[in-house]
Amino acid sequence: MANAPILITGGAGFIGSHLCDALLAKGYAVRVLDDLSTGKPDNLQLSNPHLELIEGDVADAQLVQRAVAGCRAVVHLAAVASVQASVEDPVKTHQSNFIGTLNVAEAMRVHGVRRVLFASSAAVYGNNGEGESIAEETSKAPLTPYAVDKLASEQYLDFYRRQHGLEPVVFRFFNIFGPRQDPSSPYSGVISIFSERAAQGLPITVFGDGEQTRDFLYVGDLVQVMVQALELAQVEVGAVNVGLNQATSLNQMLKALEQVVGSLPAVHYAQARSGDIRHSRADNQRLLARFDFPQPTSMVEGLAKLLGKA
Ligand code: NAD
Ligand code: UD1
Repeated sequence: MANAPILITGGAGFIGSHLCDALLAKGYAVRVLDDLSTGKPDNLQLSNPHLELIEGDVADAQLVQRAVAGCRAVVHLAAVASVQASVEDPVKTHQSNFIGTLNVAEAMRVHGVRRVLFASSAAVYGNNGEGESIAEETSKAPLTPYAVDKLASEQYLDFYRRQHGLEPVVFRFFNIFGPRQDPSSPYSGVISIFSERAAQGLPITVFGDGEQTRDFLYVGDLVQVMVQALELAQVEVGAVNVGLNQATSLNQMLKALEQVVGSLPAVHYAQARSGDIRHSRADNQRLLARFDFPQPTSMVEGLAKLLGKA
């Protein structure tokens, strides 16, 4: 078991590839299962002999069985991360975002692998708790196929915990940012879009007045928590919000960006997106109680790292 790999589904993507780097640096062997739909081989240390890349789909049950066999733990990140894509094609995204989870849980049961980290989302709360920090017990209101699939995945993992002894650690990520987040779609994470445009001197569009707030967490801080979750002797039941309990407005974020790049390109304010959440902030007491949370990376520091200026 000493060299048994940790499987990261979606390991070639934004969050997964950072976790992959951290685990390799700690001496773990890592196996990545990724269909490279948004992930990139360039994100991975392909020449590292402790890294194995299996290119394929988590919706393929047989392939998932092969990928899980012989692993010490699984980190299940593979999903179509675009909420908008799920609205446009719920049937297609359901294959990755829900069937993929079921395949992972079932393969873990078959192969006797117990520990699994799962990337859920603040999207499961919908608009509930808006304006205050959102605690895990807040009633769920998944408003999109993406959120429905995340919530159903959480519930299936809990079934496998009760029935088959799986040890799921369910994280509900709020807004994660950092290098390698794909800025290519209009629905990509706002920081990835703004920083790419600022670096290229292209105009930036803020939807609304810029006073909407998000709880932004730097990917490197998240990864430290994920590594701890893999190493915990015992897993406590119940999903964990992952955020700083800090509200940053888009206007504040733009000021930080200006500090990093020197001067901003033109910033236009356009009509707010319909259905946009005004304020989203994590109650993170459970996170702080269960994990040794690092001194958080500041927005300026995180943006500097993203833009290669740190
Ligand atoms: P990402 O798109 O960079 O990573 C997703 C990875 O999964 C990519 O490498 C992609 O190629 C792969 N993938 C997609 N469908 C697949 C399939 N069917 N089979 C195999 N691989 C597949 O996005 P990310 O931001 O790194 O997201 C990672 C996880 O975290 C996702 O589950 C996402 O829903 C969740 N999440 C992210 C955020 C955030 O702020 N980034 C917030 C909440 C939840
Ligand atoms: C994010 C996640 C989503 C998750 C939700 C729950 C991403 C891409 N989306 O959505 O998966 O369900 O958190 O916490 O990570 N904006 C602009 N200009 C732009 C792009 C965006 O002003 O060019 C605005 C948006 O209108 C929004 C804010 O920026 O008000 C944040 O948008 P975005 O990064 O897409 O994240 P969320 O909507 O919070």
